[in-house]
Amino acid sequence: MEGWGWMSDPRHNLLQRIGDRSAVVGVVGLGYVGLPFAVEKAKVGFRVLGVEQNPRRAEKVNRGENYIRDVKDEELRELVSKGLIRAETDFSRVPEMDVIVICVPTPLTKNLTPDLQYVEHVTKEIALRLRPGQLISLESTTYPGTTEEVMLPILESSGLKVERDFFLVHSPERVDPGNKRYSTKNTCKVVGGVGPVSLEVGVAFYSQTVERVIPVSSAKVAELVKVFENTFRAVNIALVNELAMLCDRMGLNVWEVLEAAFTKPFGIMPFWPGPGVGGHCIPVDPHYLEWKAKELNFNTHFIALAGEINRRMPEFVRDKAIRILNRLGIPVSQARVLILGVAYKRDLDDYRESPAIALIKLLKAEGARVSYHDPYIPRFNWDGLEMESQPLTEELLKNQDLVIITTDHSSIDYDWVVANSKHVFDTRNATKNVRSPRERITLL
Ligand SMILES: NC(=O)c1ccc[n+]([C@@H]2O[C@H](COP(=O)([O-])OP(=O)(O)OC[C@H]3O[C@@H](n4cnc5c(N)ncnc54)[C@H](O)[C@@H]3O)[C@@H](O)[C@H]2O)c1
Repeated sequence: MEGWGWMSDPRHNLLQRIGDRSAVVGVVGLGYVGLPFAVEKAKVGFRVLGVEQNPRRAEKVNRGENYIRDVKDEELRELVSKGLIRAETDFSRVPEMDVIVICVPTPLTKNLTPDLQYVEHVTKEIALRLRPGQLISLESTTYPGTTEEVMLPILESSGLKVERDFFLVHSPERVDPGNKRYSTKNTCKVVGGVGPVSLEVGVAFYSQTVERVIPVSSAKVAELVKVFENTFRAVNIALVNELAMLCDRMGLNVWEVLEAAFTKPFGIMPFWPGPGVGGHCIPVDPHYLEWKAKELNFNTHFIALAGEINRRMPEFVRDKAIRILNRLGIPVSQARVLILGVAYKRDLDDYRESPAIALIKLLKAEGARVSYHDPYIPRFNWDGLEMESQPLTEELLKNQDLVIITTDHSSIDYDWVVANSKHVFDTRNATKNVRSPRERITLL
């Protein structure tokens, strides 16, 4: 059988296959992280085998149809037609893979504790089919210890030994969806192995497609790097959100304050307030660290506080919307409100944990008649609420008592929105360049 060589020296064999790009790369979970990753690897000549539990997604991939905005349609189509990318819905082809990269969700339970069911499930499936000479890399964001304490025992239950027979690393994904300047290729990649051989193989693999790889001393360090990065964002966003609430009390414009503050060329960096945080990272990942810290009888106060402030933002926006409506003489229970943007971030089609949806629920609970428009999200079904986007017309705008800008999508003409609305509550400063009528705009 071809490949008995890996039995004698799995490390050498794998390094060779990575170096000449004959290694088969498995990608488990073809979502926002996994599909762009698969495309990057296939573009440099690796054959990619995806495992995607959602059959609709797997079928789409195999037809060369793209469903992730960061992926170019024609690139995926071409790579699929050349046979470089193929998706399966089960794990039967794991033995063919030399490198297996895991990009499955790592959500929270209702009580804000880590939900590792996806990581555990796919690790068990891989362990059942593990063979010598494979590198497994966890890219999903998680708490320090997951790779070594949760995944490793499952993988070694196969009878194979890490560092000798197979290799295991954590290399957190840092992709910023929608970012035109930084892609996976020019964003430094941190890699931590459960041992030095794993690290060597992991660095060799990632160096094929990433300009700069940053090796760290353990998988735990790599895990902490990623959750710290997202905690840094969550805390700083909470800081400016708190400032926005204070400015509201002081009658000051928070955007003016921040824009002036960020002109300082050192010691400060820009973060902007908004209706809250969303997506699969910022509202979620810091709580992975908070939970792990509790195991050590340690309270991560900043994480708890930032989470509390950011989660309260939709309520602040609701309360301010009610005040605006009062000023206009309209009780919220009779108001028509249009939410402009349900994506958690501009120019994206991702509404997971979106603060706009939390706001819709809060306004509906007050009796308001709420509709929404989002150019990227024709409909959503989230947390028990299902809605359809309304076409953005003059008539729609004119029929609203209040338009709340919750996402600053760049394709929307904000001059036109303000000109045709009775009043606009702008939580993103999207109307910054709108000249008149400014009296129809209230900023966060
Ligand atoms: N989205 C981001 O911007 C981003 C950035 C950095 C890191 N991350 C992290 O990357 C991980 C993945 O996030 P995402 O946004 O790509 O999630 P996603 O939901 O877009 O994609 C995950 C994919 O995994 C599939 N999946 C779930 N269980 C599976 C199983 N048992 N077998 C095969 N496939 C399975 C899902 O169907 C889905 O297509 C998370 O840990 C997240 O925190 C995300």
